[in-house]
Amino acid sequence: MAVEWSGLTPEIMLQLDRGSRGTLGAQLQGALRTAIRSGRLRADERLPSSRKLASDLGVSRGLVQSTYEQLAAEGYLTATAGGTTRVAPAVRQSAIERTAVGLPVDVGIAFTPGRPDLNSFPMRDWLWACGEAARIASRRDIGYGEAAGSSRLREVLAAYAQRVRAASIGSRDVIVCSGFTQGVALTLRVLREQGAETVAVEDPGHGELTMHVRRAGLQAVPVPVDADGLIVDELRSTSATAVILTPAHQTPTGVVLGPGRRQELLRWADERDGIMIEDDYDSEFRYDRQPVGALQGLAPDRVVMIGSVSKSLGPGLRLAWILAPSRLAAAIAEEKHHSDLGSPSLDQLALARLLESGRYDAHLRRMRRAYAAKRVALTEALQQHAPHLRLTGLDAGFHAVAELPPGTDEAAIIRAAARRSVHLHGMQRYRVLGADDRPAIVFGFGDLNEHAIRSGIARIANLLQPAVDVGDA
Ligand SMILES: Cc1ncc(COP(=O)(O)O)c(C=O)c1O
Repeated sequence: MAVEWSGLTPEIMLQLDRGSRGTLGAQLQGALRTAIRSGRLRADERLPSSRKLASDLGVSRGLVQSTYEQLAAEGYLTATAGGTTRVAPAVRQSAIERTAVGLPVDVGIAFTPGRPDLNSFPMRDWLWACGEAARIASRRDIGYGEAAGSSRLREVLAAYAQRVRAASIGSRDVIVCSGFTQGVALTLRVLREQGAETVAVEDPGHGELTMHVRRAGLQAVPVPVDADGLIVDELRSTSATAVILTPAHQTPTGVVLGPGRRQELLRWADERDGIMIEDDYDSEFRYDRQPVGALQGLAPDRVVMIGSVSKSLGPGLRLAWILAPSRLAAAIAEEKHHSDLGSPSLDQLALARLLESGRYDAHLRRMRRAYAAKRVALTEALQQHAPHLRLTGLDAGFHAVAELPPGTDEAAIIRAAARRSVHLHGMQRYRVLGADDRPAIVFGFGDLNEHAIRSGIARIANLLQPAVDVGDA
């Protein structure tokens, strides 16, 4: 447990050696880093004010301030608007944990794609929203509600999708579901019932989609992706009447579906009487450019758009929404009814209040800044240690693709990195058609702090060099 110092000044034992050759600033930084890494200063613990620590140590306040700033930049500390400095929550997970006997153990650095910063889940806001849900819940909400979801949440989601994603939808065509995963499964079952036989998936793409398509009794066909996203001419050459795609930030390449491709895709859908299932994954976090509007807004009668809080809040919430064309919405809601009679009502009301209150938007703004800083840490670290690697897919989200020189043994690099407790994901696992001669690493950086990102890359730097033999590395 972190100590909550309410009104009192926290005391921390730090020693500076004025006889040593290291500057006082370097010593103070080193002492704080060690105290945090060893667990002596716990995650979330409040540090003394710079004035207090400066006076305790007999150094200038400016020196303490610059030390706090430096450690905040490295991800050890966080500073709040009120001027309080705390140990960053993320340090706990990425640096050192303790065993039962108290020995420090290196838990490794996992560059896991698709995982948001779980330490930054807005727990206080969520607790507030749960309280609000309990306050506003009616008898009806406690009983079996509508399987399509709470009418309040559906209205809020329809308005949110219009405001933020330029979607075009009424609340009656919104169905609340348990993650994108359930949303796509329900939609596929309905398509199957309505006569579909073949569904196209992106290649490379989200690894489990092919399985979902097959489990719904449909045939999956892979369609390649290039720098503009799904290649529509290739889609045209298949017999698919539906396609599942990630237009906002393709998983895993990170490319955005280009405007020309969007138009081609809409033409394909008209010619084929086709359905596009838009996985609106990652759309919340776009950095240097304006967010790209949803495909759904261009063709609401042909797009089933699925949004989820798995990236914006956390996958454990299992809350998502389907925006469906009117001709499919009732059938999807019925599938949801047969599947589980509806998602948990109090959680739905809590999400509605989070969105209505503006706390959700505020959280996204905070996270956009946090991910932008992590993204800088990754690009700088790779630029420093492996400048020859081309890094793509960084416009949005929290993963990037580093293309390895042709002929590099992707799997061998991943194995060698794991021996150094750095866990990587290769492009190969996303390829639907299997072996390919374009090796790459998909670096997820959402759930790592900047310090861990930089040290992880430094630890595997020599494995990323051109033509290195990583066999015994
Ligand atoms: C591209 C993509 N879409 C959807 C999902 C699953 O999302 P959810 O947690 O909402 O079911 C994943 C999970 O890894 C994913 O990578």
